[in-house]
Amino acid sequence: LARIRTHHLQQAKNDGGHFAMLTAYEQYTAEIFDQAGIEVLLVGDSASNNVFGNETSLPVTVDELLPLCRAVARSAHRALVVADLPFGSYEVSAEQAVATGVRFLKEGLAHAVKIEGGAFYASTVRAMVQAGIPVMAHIGFTPQSEHSLGGYRVQGRGDDAQRLVDDAVALQDAGAFCVLMEMVPAETAAAVDAALRIPTVGIGAGNVTTGQVLVWQDMAGLRGGKMAKFVKQYADLRGILSEAATAYGEDVRSGQFPGPEHSF
Ligand code: KIV
Ligand code: NA
Repeated sequence: LARIRTHHLQQAKNDGGHFAMLTAYEQYTAEIFDQAGIEVLLVGDSASNNVFGNETSLPVTVDELLPLCRAVARSAHRALVVADLPFGSYEVSAEQAVATGVRFLKEGLAHAVKIEGGAFYASTVRAMVQAGIPVMAHIGFTPQSEHSLGGYRVQGRGDDAQRLVDDAVALQDAGAFCVLMEMVPAETAAAVDAALRIPTVGIGAGNVTTGQVLVWQDMAGLRGGKMAKFVKQYADLRGILSEAATAYGEDVRSGQFPGPEHSF
């Protein structure tokens, strides 16, 4: 199967179609999701709190994400691989953003990158696109700014909807190939999508967007604890793995494993 490219996502928007995106952080999930036909794999900075054990996405570094990105890119043969630029790796200047983006394409083997932020980042996006780095823009609730946004809060309600539309249009005009919206009212997301020629992706943004994205450990029920309203769990991997580990431990302690069939 041919590689999914940004123009295929554009085609989905043009045709009124949809595409699916999941996070992936290593080999097996990348292989499985790629073979399942998921069109876009995101090496999210959510690795911070879904791989590295941090409470938020803020602490994760470029050097931590690059090897995860490389593993995903080597393992996915069809999906478009998008890498998040982590907090602190692109905000300082367009030059910093281009340099970090280049690292993700060169060392991480990513096909595109994602940055958080609105119209303020238009010149940054333009510089990256001119350098040959396709950029997905992430607006609405942007987890890297959770301390300035006052926690996990829906963005773009009421009068604030127009700000999101303006942000999205500015990012599109700067050359972004896609705009991702997190935790915005479905009505606002629909207004943003309608204002854009490029495809949109939603997470907690209703079902009008071209694409949808979820963190895979939420989608598959690997993470414990309370799920956000926008998550649908398609499996209970935590339950399955817990049962497997418990059974293995019991078999070892009772001498049931290994049996003759596992021995040389
Ligand atoms: O890091 C991440 O997982 C994300 C998606 C949830 C949009 O940015
Ligand atoms: Na992210």
